Amino acid sequence: MEFSIKNTIPEKLKTGCIAAGVFESGKLSDAAKMLDDASNGHISRILDRGDMEGRKGSTLLLHDVPGIAAERVLLVGLGAEADFGEEAYLAAVNAASNSIRETGAKDAALYFTGILPKEKDISWNIFHAVLAVSEGLYRFDKLKSKPEKKKDPLKKLFIYAPEGEKDAEKALKQGRAVAEGVSFAKDLGNLPGNVCTPTYLAQTALEIAKEYKLDVRILEEKDMEALGMGALLSVTKGTVEPPKLIVLEYRGASKNRKPVVLVGKGITFDTGGISLKPGADMDEMKYDMCGAASVLGAIRSAAQMKLRLNIVAVVPSCENMPGGSATKPGDIVKSMSGQTIEVLNTDAEGRLILCDALTYVEKYEPEAVIDVATLTGACVIALGHVASGLYSNDEDLARELLDSGRKARDRAWQMPLWEDYQEQLKSNFADMANIGGRPGGSITAACFLSKYAANYHWAHLDVAGTAYRGGKHKGSTGRPVPLLCQFLMERADRS
Ligand code: BES
Ligand code: MN
Ligand code: ZN
Repeated sequence: MEFSIKNTIPEKLKTGCIAAGVFESGKLSDAAKMLDDASNGHISRILDRGDMEGRKGSTLLLHDVPGIAAERVLLVGLGAEADFGEEAYLAAVNAASNSIRETGAKDAALYFTGILPKEKDISWNIFHAVLAVSEGLYRFDKLKSKPEKKKDPLKKLFIYAPEGEKDAEKALKQGRAVAEGVSFAKDLGNLPGNVCTPTYLAQTALEIAKEYKLDVRILEEKDMEALGMGALLSVTKGTVEPPKLIVLEYRGASKNRKPVVLVGKGITFDTGGISLKPGADMDEMKYDMCGAASVLGAIRSAAQMKLRLNIVAVVPSCENMPGGSATKPGDIVKSMSGQTIEVLNTDAEGRLILCDALTYVEKYEPEAVIDVATLTGACVIALGHVASGLYSNDEDLARELLDSGRKARDRAWQMPLWEDYQEQLKSNFADMANIGGRPGGSITAACFLSKYAANYHWAHLDVAGTAYRGGKHKGSTGRPVPLLCQFLMERADRS
């Protein structure tokens, strides 16, 4: 879909379909009012007949309205004017985009931007309209031999902004870039484990690097051995797939500004290893690289937006398989940091690959490090599928990320990292165990990571509940790409 801004008055715009809002009382939005006036009351006469009540998300399609240049007019219900907020606005955008795609219109225009949800500016409206429409358009059918052919002639979508609205184009660009990052992350997440291997992720990173002129480095198993990454390497021992440590560097600010580092868990399939997972729904463990997908998606979006910021994305990637040479419960490994770990459960593998990546990134003297991981089932129990779990050793960074999540409609919720929980990670034989028992499982996982992130401002996002959906609508969500992008955009503005 091609998005662009238009500031033509509604009745004059030559397009396949023009969408404008109607409130529940039958009150016309400004754009609908202009269409009504230009058509000599055609629209209000139809409303008077009772064909459209303005209920939230309802639509009424009109053809060849007199005095209107567009071929069709789509009236979209906005609900009660007093309740008109984010949800109602996005419901209108979604209803419009779905209805327009059922018509033969090749291009169309949304005139919803005059009616701002309370406290939201035009930029917010445009940004979130692009995200919402892209969300509705997303399909993953490239692995079906005969993809369902749906008619979908709509190629161009105009979004109205009043003339002279100087941030409109910027918001559109940002919306486009973030939406692409989200789709990109979804595609990677949805690919099965036999396609999306560590090698495939590395290849993808090379492609991003080429397209956006980023620096890229792929560390192989022998490089990881040389660095002493015993924790990461212990996870890959049961598989024949070669592990990769992917490093992408984007430079948008001056050389002496320290980078923001994003670290993403890239387990391309998690069987649990010798501590094998139960069979039911195990296919969903192909999503165990969604953290990786999100940091690759975010750095791609940032590069597309040309953010004035330095960013590094680091992805430790391997498969977690059982096998004759796999790590066994009780094995003790030495991490790159020098700390030793008793692997009491080989299914707690995410923290093992992340801890070495967290040590590796110290060399950047980062401004901040954010890791993203489908780390624990316990996080899903705690927060469900609504909020990502946020942990941080820095309150300012935590607040910044919470705020970014709210603005991007990709929310996180802060969880405690108190010293009291470290107790649960004690080992009789090594510096720490890799599991802390059932109570507070998401918290003890974060506590484990904190032992490797003490030398910089760090935050951890547990996205086990938010990065994908199971069940009938199984699929990757692309979260937390919007949160990460919002954070990066604001960091860039701050400099
Ligand atoms: N990848 C899983 C976490 C996960 C579970 C993500 C469910 C999405 C949905 C992770 O590697 C894992 O297996 N964690 C264990 C940790 C436990 C052994 C301490 C878990 O959550 O059960
Ligand atoms: Mn696991
Ligand atoms: Zn895992």
